Amino acid sequence: MANLIPDIVARSAEFKGIRRLLHAHPETAFEEHETGALIASKLKEWGIEVHCGIGGTGVVGVLRGRPGDKCIGLRADMDALPMQEGNSFAHCSRHREKMHACGHDGHVAMLLAAARQLAESSEFKGTVNFIFQPAEEGGSGAKRMIADGLFERFPCDAVFALHNWPGLAAGTFATRPGPIMASCNEFKITIHGKGGHAAIPQQSNDPILAAAQVVSALQSVVSRNTSPLDSVVLSVTRLQAGTGFNIIPDSAQIGGTVRTFSLPVLDMMEKRMESICKLTAQAHGCSAEFRFLRQSIPTVNDAEQTALALDVMRSVVGQDQVNAEAEPTMGAEDFAFMLAKRPGCYAFIGNDAQSPATERFGLHHPRYDFNDDLIPLGASYWVKLVNAFLD
Ligand code: NI
Repeated sequence: MANLIPDIVARSAEFKGIRRLLHAHPETAFEEHETGALIASKLKEWGIEVHCGIGGTGVVGVLRGRPGDKCIGLRADMDALPMQEGNSFAHCSRHREKMHACGHDGHVAMLLAAARQLAESSEFKGTVNFIFQPAEEGGSGAKRMIADGLFERFPCDAVFALHNWPGLAAGTFATRPGPIMASCNEFKITIHGKGGHAAIPQQSNDPILAAAQVVSALQSVVSRNTSPLDSVVLSVTRLQAGTGFNIIPDSAQIGGTVRTFSLPVLDMMEKRMESICKLTAQAHGCSAEFRFLRQSIPTVNDAEQTALALDVMRSVVGQDQVNAEAEPTMGAEDFAFMLAKRPGCYAFIGNDAQSPATERFGLHHPRYDFNDDLIPLGASYWVKLVNAFLD
């Protein structure tokens, strides 16, 4: 049995209600106005100082305990995804094409439950900053909050975040020191050739042939230029050209994504890709425009803070329920920008109900739903982490 905080367990129905209310009213990147207002009103109700509009729609709650110098930041993302919910239960989304399919509704509920508990029993020494972040799903809300002075206005010695994880059983936690999620980058290539009649190819410079060669050659960067011990993904996901069977088009577009766990490897990827596409295009009498957009850097956990977080997880669910060597994923998380500024730990909390009768859906699936049983677990972790860190 997990070692949960009894007051949090006693209030779990209240926070399950808040979680379901958020689920029914999802808001996407930088539009989290109602969500932010609900968070702010709850924090105020519990006597927590509230700051709104940080990095757009971000909300920060500041709670001071007994006099002390140390400060901790706890982050919950609060945005939903632009997709139609496929569930029909009572708390399903009331907003068309918007859905909490990543469980950020649950992340908010867990952090609110912890905030209330800490506000009522502020025996800790120092300051807790509750960071409710907008636009985690590709909107770089963390970056916006930092640019808006997050860490100058609300100093944090370390920052922590939790993400629910389908595929891991409820009642378990997993994390690891070092890289846990990858950098996320988008590339866009335009091959400029010379269009013309398909029956007279000698008068054209065919951008489709050049694009095909570029797509093949790009795959050599992972297999031939990257150390076998480094993990990298390069996926070409878009290839567009042409309008008719008898026309050689003027240009072709290629697009896709690159994921890496390290910045030097990312720099190498960008450089090699650029020269491959430019020189390959040139070899076919075409030219190439290459754009590389770095959306999110790798999420890298600090060894010392991760060791502390792991100890706290073990105190909540027991040694056997904590995986200290979680497999990193090639997905990305913009909490990475906070971890690049302050040491800390990003961790997974298992989401799958124990009962095999419960149907399970992955993150971003139209039938996904956050498991409410996690609220007392996540909130107990937050409270114990605050006490352990500030002690
Ligand atoms: Ni998410």
